Amino acid sequence: QELQINLEQIEKGGYDHFMLKEIYEQPSAILDTFRGRLRSNEAIIKMAGVEDNMKKFLNANRIIIVACGTSWHAGLVAEYIFEDLARIPVEVEYASEFRYRNPVITENDVVIAISQSGETADTLAAIKLAKSKGAFVFGVCNVVGSTIARETNAGAYTHAGPEIGVASTKAFTTQITVLTLIALRLARAKGTISSSDFRTHLIELELIPKKVELALKSDSLVQTIADIYKDTKNFLYLGRGYNFPVALEGALKLKEISYIHAEGYPAAEMKHGPIALIDENMPIVVIATKKGHYEKVVSNIQEIKSRKGKIIGIVTQGDESVRELADHVIEVPETLESLSPLLTTIPLQLLSYHIAVMLGKNVDQPRNLAKSVTVE
Ligand code: G6P
Repeated sequence: QELQINLEQIEKGGYDHFMLKEIYEQPSAILDTFRGRLRSNEAIIKMAGVEDNMKKFLNANRIIIVACGTSWHAGLVAEYIFEDLARIPVEVEYASEFRYRNPVITENDVVIAISQSGETADTLAAIKLAKSKGAFVFGVCNVVGSTIARETNAGAYTHAGPEIGVASTKAFTTQITVLTLIALRLARAKGTISSSDFRTHLIELELIPKKVELALKSDSLVQTIADIYKDTKNFLYLGRGYNFPVALEGALKLKEISYIHAEGYPAAEMKHGPIALIDENMPIVVIATKKGHYEKVVSNIQEIKSRKGKIIGIVTQGDESVRELADHVIEVPETLESLSPLLTTIPLQLLSYHIAVMLGKNVDQPRNLAKSVTVE
């Protein structure tokens, strides 16, 4: 028994929980994900699975992304990146719904399946359906040799290392990293990105691990905020553009481990419903980084403020406008809008973590959830 406990302590590497360890591993996990693939000095991206199937990608009428849970959120971020940079139409589907909808799939579609475990039954079933219709299926998995990695026609691993905490953290940011690399490679091949923009993206991407490290420095501030709001029954998370999926993911993290009801919403949709929920008891996490429709988000924040909602702003370092309005601001370093989800996600992971710890919940193994869901 004692030996067992000690072993687990060692595996946690000095952290109280696997989830916290994995949150802190993100700088190195992201680095491992682009190591050998991103070469900014040569201005190239090399990924065997993409190079070998370049024709399929370039001839694709559209990309359909299938996934579940956090991986589905990574798919939503990828939708923005692929459409923005590579100008390829993208649809993002819940694997479970895709399967039961008699979807239109042709040989000219590329399906990207995203799965940390590579074992999710719904995602696997969607892959089988897509393959039976002749689509080319590309996998983005973390677990090497997993079923989905084997069932797909080609793929790229995330190289995040083992993720033990049920709530996915480093798998999410490394999935976004891989998908960004793919989108950039395709954008270059299609000529939808200029060589200088391409280079800027590579240089910025290389800086991300350092910037994630800086974003992690918000930890003690986030802890203070967690303490203020831990007993709240509801949370709202808002974001726009690239950071709308981050709002969904932030809300999911809180639900999963603290059992607090939370909803993620596109900031502009707030006025079509959720605004009715806002009063002085409602904390609202708003992602309001400088490059993402900033003015619009600031006006959304003003609407919240006039209804006395409590505002927790995730802002770019040095921000002043949101600071004037918000009850709390958490800064993340500046980067390209397309890469900002890799930074804005960090304080949201920490917020859910600290609230769950303060509430005495089982952070690494939340009730009713499993790390990989092998039933449909
Ligand atoms: C489970 C996990 C989630 C995960 C989802 C998809 O529900 O609890 O954290 O996001 O499955 O898992 P996958 O391994 O396919 O990414």
